[in-house]
Amino acid sequence: MSPRTWRIGVAGLGTVGGGLLQFLAERPDFAPAGGRAVITGVTARSRSRPRSIDISGIAWFDDPVALATSPDIDLFVELVGGSDGPAKAAVEAALKAGKPVVTANKALIAEHGAELAALAEAAGVPLLFEAAVMGGTPAVKMLREAMVGDDVVGVAGILNGTCNFILSEMEQRGASFADVLGEAQRMGYAEADPTMDVGGFDAAHKVTILAALAFGCAPNFAAAEIEGIDQVDLLDIKLAKDLGYRIRLIASADRTADGVAVRVHPSLVAQGHPLAETRGALNALFIEGTRIGRIFIQGPGAGAGPTAAAVAADIADVMTLPTRPVFQRPAGDLKPFVAVAPTRRVGKAYLRLLVKDQAGVIAAVSETLAECGVSIDSFLQKPVEDAGGVPIVLTTHAIAESVLTDAINRIEKLPAVLERPRLLRIARI
Ligand SMILES: NC(=O)c1ccc[n+]([C@@H]2O[C@H](COP(=O)([O-])OP(=O)(O)OC[C@H]3O[C@@H](n4cnc5c(N)ncnc54)[C@H](OP(=O)(O)O)[C@@H]3O)[C@@H](O)[C@H]2O)c1
Repeated sequence: MSPRTWRIGVAGLGTVGGGLLQFLAERPDFAPAGGRAVITGVTARSRSRPRSIDISGIAWFDDPVALATSPDIDLFVELVGGSDGPAKAAVEAALKAGKPVVTANKALIAEHGAELAALAEAAGVPLLFEAAVMGGTPAVKMLREAMVGDDVVGVAGILNGTCNFILSEMEQRGASFADVLGEAQRMGYAEADPTMDVGGFDAAHKVTILAALAFGCAPNFAAAEIEGIDQVDLLDIKLAKDLGYRIRLIASADRTADGVAVRVHPSLVAQGHPLAETRGALNALFIEGTRIGRIFIQGPGAGAGPTAAAVAADIADVMTLPTRPVFQRPAGDLKPFVAVAPTRRVGKAYLRLLVKDQAGVIAAVSETLAECGVSIDSFLQKPVEDAGGVPIVLTTHAIAESVLTDAINRIEKLPAVLERPRLLRIARI
């Protein structure tokens, strides 16, 4: 039998789509198990936009759904983006038409993964999304395939390169969030509308997908607790450093007896920890299983080359492998996880206050904390120029977040306290 040629339709010719076309142009020998991958149809928003790769010999489709259902393609690759709109319509149409789908779209999988998994499994075709999490670093395959023999209890990492770049630069150069963001936008490291990244939503999409794969449950984006880095103050980066920490945007999913907690928070990570030492736009992830123990992976989370390589790896899987369930178990058995109630969440915290420079303030704060039952681990009072008051920092022993919130509400009302105390979590990883 002669090796099969797989006719591929690609929707989206931007960073990732352009990278995929470039990859296949550079790798005419890319023939997993002997089968050849050939792009036979493309679509994007504008047909006339200049492209870095010549697409004149490839059939053009104005409508992504028409490409997804074309009898002239065997595999549909969605690289448009967005949780709804043309990306969702085209992926659904492809699956209903019995075509395997490869996508890099984290928003789509995090928000509609269970429905799409059901469509894929009804049609008996794969739905693969390696590039959706950590770009070129294989986190999805790690959980979907390599860790399937273990019981994963948690994942935690840095899943948004833009945020990590901004936090690293703020610390290194002593620059404010707004200044570094503006520069990152000018250099093309951050989008013109940075909300998805700096608001923590992109990392939340990714960790929602990892939680589904790790725990064999339906992706439940609505249950993710999300805080971005837009409120991270340079003052906290400096004070955290004095206490031996770096601030990182940590995305985590933990399974406990109380349920699953999926969270994205700017968090303090001890200097020397691999996540604290992950700088610039890199991504990094710890996966913890009951038998295998801890695994750490680190690598590029974005960019045309790395992301296209991950898409190509999924194309190779479609061409060579039998189909697995999309999220570890058949779609019909997937349930949304039970989220841990806020009152059950426990962890160590960093609290930063800004107070008037007057006698008795520390005593008043300490008394309030004691009344609330907050136990202090360390305490730092440090004059900082231009801080607008005297910063006081304290770290706590592990404590329920509800207790901490009560203490913050009470401290905020003390006459010498100038603003609402700033809470940052200390990462448990
Ligand atoms: N960039 C990365 O490093 C990276 C990493 C991991 C995952 N991803 C994911 O990969 C996907 C693509 O990202 P990207 O960075 O490549 O985006 P991008 O550069 O903005 O490209 C988007 C592409 O989609 C096309 N498009 C937009 N709206 C369309 C519509 N209504 N109909 C048809 N085509 C449409 C655009 O057409 P025009 O070219 O004509 O404007 C463009 O070619 C997203 O889901 C993203 O989250 C990206």
